[in-house]
Amino acid sequence: MTRKVSIIGAGAVGATLAHRVLESGVADVVLLDVLKNIAEAKTLDLLDAAPVAGHEKNITGTDDYAQIRKSDIVVITAGLPRKPGMTRDELIAKNASIVKDVSEKVKKYAPDSIVIVVTNPLDTMTYLARKITGFKKEKVMGMAGVLDGSRFINLISQELKVPRSSIETYILGSHGDTMVPIISKTRVKGKPITEAIDKNKLEAMIKRTCDRGAEIVKLLGSGSAYYSPSAAVFKMIESILKDKKETLAASAYVEGEYGLSGLYIGVPCKIGSGGIEKIVEFDISGAESAALARSAEAIKALNKLL
Ligand code: LAC
Repeated sequence: MTRKVSIIGAGAVGATLAHRVLESGVADVVLLDVLKNIAEAKTLDLLDAAPVAGHEKNITGTDDYAQIRKSDIVVITAGLPRKPGMTRDELIAKNASIVKDVSEKVKKYAPDSIVIVVTNPLDTMTYLARKITGFKKEKVMGMAGVLDGSRFINLISQELKVPRSSIETYILGSHGDTMVPIISKTRVKGKPITEAIDKNKLEAMIKRTCDRGAEIVKLLGSGSAYYSPSAAVFKMIESILKDKKETLAASAYVEGEYGLSGLYIGVPCKIGSGGIEKIVEFDISGAESAALARSAEAIKALNKLL
């Protein structure tokens, strides 16, 4: 059976994600943007790559939401990226109206889909998408933890000169200044990271991980990161479409897990064909748990501005 992934927003993240989905062969793609010509142009370009890349998947470029009918997954990337010097939180006013509008359309045209939100401020936009669609909490999630974890892994790999694949970590909490690297779950070749890197160095690396998105925004001058965010969304898509049930950090609606409730926040989630099939409760340290609670407060304060 052909699977269908609809991507709302044909900017850099949306188009790069379309590329990954198509060339992996996991699904057909609808690339939707209010700027119809942009969606169509990128679609033609992606289609023209297909004979060379050697796949038979289809992509439709459109501004018509009726095209997202029967999507397995809808990814919301629409919205403004940060400008140099901005925080993600400062995007709330403009992006909330965009995400609200998109979510109403998703509710109408793709009521059985699983929704992955990418638009910033991430945890608040995911909360809003759930509120507007009214979908079950399992069916709406936000992408951030996989991306933040990937950035941290790179820094550790460069510091210790070890393969990236030998490192595991989880970054929970908000996709913002209060993100929480779970050091007690960060391992290099199976050993605790604290045995390999001293506390001060580790703190500097955590700070750089938190600031990595801004580092890229500053260098680009216009726009924000897209290769790594699209890679992270793709990992979540694959876990859903292939029912891999991987435990990935994602923004999920908590109802008591980690002592938190009433918000979307980054937590480890078992992701499969049902969406978020379970929030996995790791045995984290007291300090990590307190940091998560602080992060939750920051997200809730932002949610109040909706
Ligand atoms: C970043 C955006 C996706 O972290 O928030 O680059």
